[in-house]
Amino acid sequence: MAKEKFYITTPIYYPSDKLHIGHSYCTVAADTIARYKRAQGYDVMFLTGTDEHGQKIQRIAEERGVSPQEYVDNIVSGIKDLWKLMDISNDKFIRTTDEMHVKAVQKIFNTLYEKGDIYKSEYEGWYCTPCESFWTEHQLVDGKCPDCGRSVEKTKEESYFFRLSKYQDRLIDLIKNNPDFLQPAIRQNEMLNNFLIPGLEDLCVSRTSFDWGIPVEFDPKHVVYVWLDALTNYINALGAFSDDDADFKKYWPADVHLVGKEIVRFHSIIWPAMLMALDLPLPKQVYGHGWLLLDGGKMSKSKGNVVDPVKLVEKYGVDAIRYFLMREMPFGADGVFNNEALINRINSDLANDLGNLVSRTVSMVEKYFGGTCRNMNVADTMDGELITLAKETPAKVEALMDSYQFSSALAEIWKLISRTNKYIDETTPWTLAKDESKKDRLETVMYNLCEAIRIASELISPVMTRTTPAILAQIGAKESGWNCAKVWGLQDSFTVTKGSVLFPRIDVEAELKAIEEEAANAQAPQIEKPEAKEEITIDDFIKTELRVAKVIECERIKKAKKLLKLQLDLGYEKRQVVSGIAQFYEPEELIGKKVVIVANLKPVKLCGEDSYGMILCASNDNQLSIISPSDDMELGSEVC
Ligand code: MSP
Repeated sequence: MAKEKFYITTPIYYPSDKLHIGHSYCTVAADTIARYKRAQGYDVMFLTGTDEHGQKIQRIAEERGVSPQEYVDNIVSGIKDLWKLMDISNDKFIRTTDEMHVKAVQKIFNTLYEKGDIYKSEYEGWYCTPCESFWTEHQLVDGKCPDCGRSVEKTKEESYFFRLSKYQDRLIDLIKNNPDFLQPAIRQNEMLNNFLIPGLEDLCVSRTSFDWGIPVEFDPKHVVYVWLDALTNYINALGAFSDDDADFKKYWPADVHLVGKEIVRFHSIIWPAMLMALDLPLPKQVYGHGWLLLDGGKMSKSKGNVVDPVKLVEKYGVDAIRYFLMREMPFGADGVFNNEALINRINSDLANDLGNLVSRTVSMVEKYFGGTCRNMNVADTMDGELITLAKETPAKVEALMDSYQFSSALAEIWKLISRTNKYIDETTPWTLAKDESKKDRLETVMYNLCEAIRIASELISPVMTRTTPAILAQIGAKESGWNCAKVWGLQDSFTVTKGSVLFPRIDVEAELKAIEEEAANAQAPQIEKPEAKEEITIDDFIKTELRVAKVIECERIKKAKKLLKLQLDLGYEKRQVVSGIAQFYEPEELIGKKVVIVANLKPVKLCGEDSYGMILCASNDNQLSIISPSDDMELGSEVC
């Protein structure tokens, strides 16, 4: 019989130097589901990839002085390495710069245009580049992006629009009448109340102010809006809109799109509307998981509060990290990453409960029976509880895994592990060993321990990819697989082999101290003494006229990526200054800011623009910060 298919996706990631542990969270969860489904016998397609177009990537590439293609090419291999390190078992990896994807996006855009679902108009509104999101004036919160709280840019350009509003009623119906479509349930109200019921506007789906994107085939000065481009990866990776669409026919619709909660809007409103317009089936489910937080905020590179998954895996091993991510917080909700909680979980759940159980059992089988124990069928009433629990646990775990409650599923497995440890305390094998007449009973106890360990090890396999085979090898399991967990008494005997310690115990205090020191060292880089300049006298210095001014207008200079043109008010006069700060400041964030300028500098022309002075900034190789007097300082005041 043909296997039932199961198609699962993660979001495709923006290429970034360092994906943090929050990014790994989503991918590890998807991998856990993929492994679980495969173990159950499904024909799984697990997709991940990278989202490589858009204004944000173009700007970063410009700042680094490389082409966007060079920038993404350099980074994508690092992302693939990270997924290897985290034991991610994706079947496909899509890059939105792949030719197959580019062609499919163009065909999709053309199809929607020909059907009248895309039309040409003009966009005027706000754009958040970090989120690549369009916002209307009334959606902004305190003038900032409602998703990430960062500055937005005023945007006015000729654009193509997708008739999103046309699908509003069908989307409301989809979410209200099909509760499985959007999970967990809390996300349904968020989408209905925040977006659908207030009313959808048509969506701007092309840009002309930059060119790092997929050109619209029939109007190539436009590039396709990065989210429209990105969302279609889920079908394009399967060959949709190409000559080879066998996988598309086989796997689409997706069984689940796993996404972080901040991008649920794109997946549960824009994406289904696009599919409706294309007359394609909708994904069966969009699951919006919570965030892994650090110090009360979302981990983010720009906030500098990221935790590096590579370092964590190097220190504690991939299974400990995967276990922590899946165990520590309920999947739909937010959770906090903290080193102490991680170390405590490693010590208590992994080293004490699981690791100790395995090593004690293996040692006892070796000591009392030379390494092989058989089921001697000498039962005792105290066996009943353990055996019943071992038989019931797989079904409980399946029910929880089916609804992506990884933490509760692991908690159920750990109940079996704890019960097995308790069984050792109850049966006291060391006492049985003293009595020759209890030999068969002792062997039965050893056998029961191995059986319980075997079942628990199978059940943790979707999360702990390396521990399961390591334990099964130590206890001498003869068969392995998800269904083996459902059978008590699968094999008649176990021949054990002592292996290395599964999870070494960590000295909590010493480890936390070392982590603190590491963090302090990282924050205080060794700074080399700069070469001193020639000494000057006070008379030299006072030749420089420094004055307080306010920025009243500011704009980029088209032909010069590094330059901003600023109009300054000195109180007694207004003047124009050109400054090389465009890579560090958005024009909007400077308006109203007080600055200090060198007022008696000889005027110069920069890229065709006159500059009457220079703005004072602190800077090094990577950073730049404008020197700004307090807001109440009068314009024109002298700085000395
Ligand atoms: N490129 C878009 C997705 C396009 S899908 C068609 C994107 N990329 S991302 O790199 O910014 O984020 C990828 C995923 O990582 C998102 O689901 C996001 O929610 C998730 N996470 C990023 N930081 C996270 C945490 N701190 N915690 C949990 N997940 C987080 O969005």
